[in-house]
Amino acid sequence: MKPQHLTTNQRIARVWATLAVLGLLLWWTQRARGVESEVTVSIEPCFRGEPLVFDQLRCTNSAGQALAVTRLDMLLSGIAVRRTNGTWLEKHHWFAFINGREGRTNFVLRGLPAGDYDRLRFSIGVPTEQNHASPAQWDAAHPLNPQVNGLHWNWQGGYVFLALEGKWGLPPRFAGERDGVGGERVNALNTGLAASGLSHPSPALTQPETGGPRPPRPTAGFSWHLATDRQLMTVDVPVTLGVHSEHAAVRLTFDLATVFGELTLGRDTSSTHSREGDELADWLRGNVERAFSPSRAGGLQPLPLGSSRAKTATGSRRHEAAAPAKVIGTPYRFTYASHFPKPALPLDNPLTEEGVALGRRLFNDPLLSKGEKQSCASCHQMNGGTVDAGKAFSLGVDGLEGKRNAMPLYNLAWKSEFFWDGRAKSLRQQALMPIQDDLEMHETLPNVVAKLKSARATAADAKAITYATSFTCAFGSPDITAERVGLALEQFLLTVTSFDSKFDRVMRGESNFTTEEQRGFELFHTEHDPRRGQFGADCFHCHGGPLFQNVSFANNGLDREPKDLGRYLVTGRDGDKGKFSVPSLRNVELTAPYMHDGRHRTLEEAVFHYVRGVQRGETLDPNLAKHPPGGVRLPPPDLHALVAFLKTLTDESLRPATRRAANAPSP
Ligand code: HEC
Ligand code: HEC
Repeated sequence: MKPQHLTTNQRIARVWATLAVLGLLLWWTQRARGVESEVTVSIEPCFRGEPLVFDQLRCTNSAGQALAVTRLDMLLSGIAVRRTNGTWLEKHHWFAFINGREGRTNFVLRGLPAGDYDRLRFSIGVPTEQNHASPAQWDAAHPLNPQVNGLHWNWQGGYVFLALEGKWGLPPRFAGERDGVGGERVNALNTGLAASGLSHPSPALTQPETGGPRPPRPTAGFSWHLATDRQLMTVDVPVTLGVHSEHAAVRLTFDLATVFGELTLGRDTSSTHSREGDELADWLRGNVERAFSPSRAGGLQPLPLGSSRAKTATGSRRHEAAAPAKVIGTPYRFTYASHFPKPALPLDNPLTEEGVALGRRLFNDPLLSKGEKQSCASCHQMNGGTVDAGKAFSLGVDGLEGKRNAMPLYNLAWKSEFFWDGRAKSLRQQALMPIQDDLEMHETLPNVVAKLKSARATAADAKAITYATSFTCAFGSPDITAERVGLALEQFLLTVTSFDSKFDRVMRGESNFTTEEQRGFELFHTEHDPRRGQFGADCFHCHGGPLFQNVSFANNGLDREPKDLGRYLVTGRDGDKGKFSVPSLRNVELTAPYMHDGRHRTLEEAVFHYVRGVQRGETLDPNLAKHPPGGVRLPPPDLHALVAFLKTLTDESLRPATRRAANAPSP
């Protein structure tokens, strides 16, 4: 047979075909050998096998008490999976943060080789090395960043490994019978309490009724924080995990009935901080380790990936999906204290000198309001006090009073939800709201844009340039849009920081507290747990860390029936009624009046609230509900010491007198 004569075209086609087959083969072998899978592990909080409903007195413990869980947070580390051949595969430097109430119950294990696995092991807590390292090292979205987990307690230098908080009382069927203070049922409970061996009958429960109209049933709070290196917990559960494709899933349940065990909640058992010799902490630790098991729903069923991914623990809460934007202009050097956590700056709105300058100009420009009567700075004085000149409610352009106390604007780069109720999810979104608020600047965005376009450069403007020029410098083109107004204001607001106070100098070893300030510092950072010899004021639970605020919303007991429903207006969750953003206490000396409605005129009054004024409403935070009625009783010298300590948080550069002196012409 004559050899086939190929045309050039045919040859080329052959080469291509061979290459394609080879490529396909290569891809296929790579794929078969190195399937690196993403395994979603979910931890489902439950009570006796039923999914846990947060905030409601729905769980009944073995002593017949009704329990409500309001917080279940934990840090996980050191994960390992066991192959069916018995060898373990460990992932060091792996961490996750679980927040049960907010539904952050999944984490993803990446890079698991294909195969079959039969056990899953992890620790609750973080190993000594990370527990004592500076929390400022972690990226903004990292599970160990204190802004992400809210579990770093500074005073001891370490993390809370597991925080379990809630309320307890009598179940509804007993509520009408007795009110929870005294009574047959309660005495029966106390027998159980003593029987649990861990606690003595609580005086609150054994006091005889004193007659008169019975107050509604009080709810007491419990706040359990397992921490310190000693308390690192290890969980080891059997699983059925076959990793044969890109995605696999394992579901575990965490049964709180196992954690509560036979314990009867009382004064003695309502609080633990894992101090040396704290038997409650040791007892809980064992229960926690046993509370995990493979979900009955089956370990193999993959979760709907959409929802599980949305909840995974890795992404930054803010601007997660945002692609980095091209930087136009001069990059702005954002500086902050070395002991602050890393902030989550928006990648799609990089800070530039020009953008910040434009934001500052807009912030101070009354053009943004109806009738050009008011600028942002009218209510937020950036020098001195930073809030509306001592008014409880600011007046808007129409002379109408707003509904809440203006907020000081600094260290916003560490917040991710803005306003007292957190209704704005970003500063760019937030910044456009006061402009359009009827009670504030009462203007429309198209009007603002039109006014900015026609505004003439005046000598009073920083550089006497038109807005079109300012926008070009900041964004690369002269287009003036509402979106860009928001972006520029966001840039400016992010740069306003405050971290230079006497407190910071003391921390750096450059200054010393007075005896009174030192006493206040200790009270502030010590829990109130008289039975374990702790007589602190317990402020750090909410106002802790270098920012003096945690990233949460809480009811601090201002009203039994809150008039302003606060956070509830945003989430619609009953458990959020009367909760407000925990304010930073930095510069608090300068920001009177206090609280969301400015009800307290002086700092002394605001602090006194925690001593006598705490009201036991439905959603009172467990960290306050665990205290005696009214609050922690502090003698007057201690109150003064707390106030003296709070005054060390003042950034002197913000004090109006200093400002004036600095600006005064030198003689
Ligand atoms: C009439 C007074 C008034 C004016 C004018 C005003 N604000 Fe406010 N600002 C407030 C009040 C009151 C709050 C709290 C409102 C709430 O929680 O509902 C607030 C809250 C904020 C917050 C939230 C801070 C935080 O920690 O969550 C930011 C940011 C802010 N304002 C920025 C601005 C900007 C930018 C402008 C100008 C565009 C502006 N404000 C104009 C009164 C004012
Ligand atoms: C359970 C969390 C929690 C605890 C514990 C707590 N606070 Fe607060 N604090 C808050 C919340 C929330 C607000 C704002 C409440 C509001 O306006 O509705 C607040 C407001 C304040 C204010 C007013 C700040 C302002 O700018 O208006 C001061 C001062 C204050 N707290 C001091 C303290 C002191 C001192 C302690 C310890 C005795 C303490 N707090 C304990 C949650 C807490």
